[in-house]
Amino acid sequence: MTDIQPATESARSYFINDYLSRYGSFQDLAEQYADACIFTNRSLVATINDKIIGGITWSIKEGINSGLVEIFQMSILKEYRGKGYGSLLVEKCLQDIESFYCLRGYPLQRVYIIITESNIIGRNLYRNKDFYVAASLMNHRFVNQMDLFYVKDYFIKN
Ligand SMILES: CC(C)(COP(=O)(O)OP(=O)(O)OC[C@H]1O[C@@H](n2cnc3c(N)ncnc32)[C@H](O)[C@@H]1OP(=O)(O)O)[C@@H](O)C(=O)NCCC(=O)NCCS
Repeated sequence: MTDIQPATESARSYFINDYLSRYGSFQDLAEQYADACIFTNRSLVATINDKIIGGITWSIKEGINSGLVEIFQMSILKEYRGKGYGSLLVEKCLQDIESFYCLRGYPLQRVYIIITESNIIGRNLYRNKDFYVAASLMNHRFVNQMDLFYVKDYFIKN
């Protein structure tokens, strides 16, 4: 059974391994990344029978009064991709962000994520959640590749 909950210290090894598998083999940076995901920012993890199969992390940009949020990492373990877990995780993440702002009485203005143009699955996923491309950035993370700045606006609703 799939469960999605805020990440706690018990997810630390998941985030360390996620970093090592995607960004390089620096153990110290992987540990800092895990701490940033769990303690500095806010993450949700999806579990199946107590095994973490994916996670997503969001962060408040500037102060909470800016209403601006970045989703800055998300991944699902390879063997669990294409089964709807990523989509579910984004839905829960948006609910988490919305209730976080609502509880504190601050309006949410915009949620954004930067996705590389070639990441068709990521782009489909966020487009299906009402994100749209607000800007494109050539040579941003990768030379000769376009990064797309996907946003979901809330300011019209507030
Ligand atoms: C991007 C990622 C998180 C998606 O997770 P996932 O669990 O595989 O995604 P889902 O099964 O929920 O599918 C999400 C959407 O992508 C699309 N999709 C899924 N598999 C696809 C495929 N093989 N080809 C094209 N589109 C696909 C579908 O539109 C789907 O939405 P829908 O079924 O509601 O129409 C996952 O592929 C991953 O971890 N990738 C590597 C890390 C990464 O790219 N992170 C950045 C994310 S922006």
